[in-house]
Amino acid sequence: MHIHKFEKIWLVFGIATLVFFLTVVGVSAFYLGNQPPSCLATVDVEKVDTQEPFNKPGLTKVEGKEWDYQLVYVASAFSYNPMKVEVPLGAKVKVIATTKDVIHGFEVAGTNINMMLEPGYVSEFTTTFDKPGEFLVVCNEYCGTGHHLMYSTIEVIE
Ligand code: CUA
Repeated sequence: MHIHKFEKIWLVFGIATLVFFLTVVGVSAFYLGNQPPSCLATVDVEKVDTQEPFNKPGLTKVEGKEWDYQLVYVASAFSYNPMKVEVPLGAKVKVIATTKDVIHGFEVAGTNINMMLEPGYVSEFTTTFDKPGEFLVVCNEYCGTGHHLMYSTIEVIE
C-alpha cells in the first residue's frame, strides 16, 4: 500500500501528539494527582485502631515539639472519634487524622483547617486555636447516606 508523503507526515504528527498528551495525563494522574500534599505518611487501614497515634484518639499534651498538643482523629462512616474535645485557648495544636474506610473530609468551620482524609494516609495540620468558642468539624467529601450526619465539635476554652 502506498501512503502519500504528506499523509505520512500527518499520521506521525498525530500519533506523536497523542503519545505526548497521554504521557502528560499519565504523569499528572499517577505522580501528582494521587496524593494530597498533607498526606505523606501512611497507615495500615486494617489496623488503624492499634497503631500510634490512632490507638489514642483525642487531645494529648506533647513535649519537645513545636506544637503543644496533638489532636488525633479517626474518621469512619459516619462519625469522628472523638465526638467532642476541649482545647485550651491559645494552644498550638497538631491535628492528625485518618479514615478507617472511605474518603472523608475534615473541615473545621470558621477556621483555616480543611483536610481530605484518605484511607491509608495520615493527614496533618498544625494550627493555633486563638478564638474561644465551639467549632464544628464537618465532612465535606460525600461519603454515603450518612454524610450529612457526620460531625464532631471542638470547644476552645479560656
Ligand atoms: Cu464522611 Cu462525608
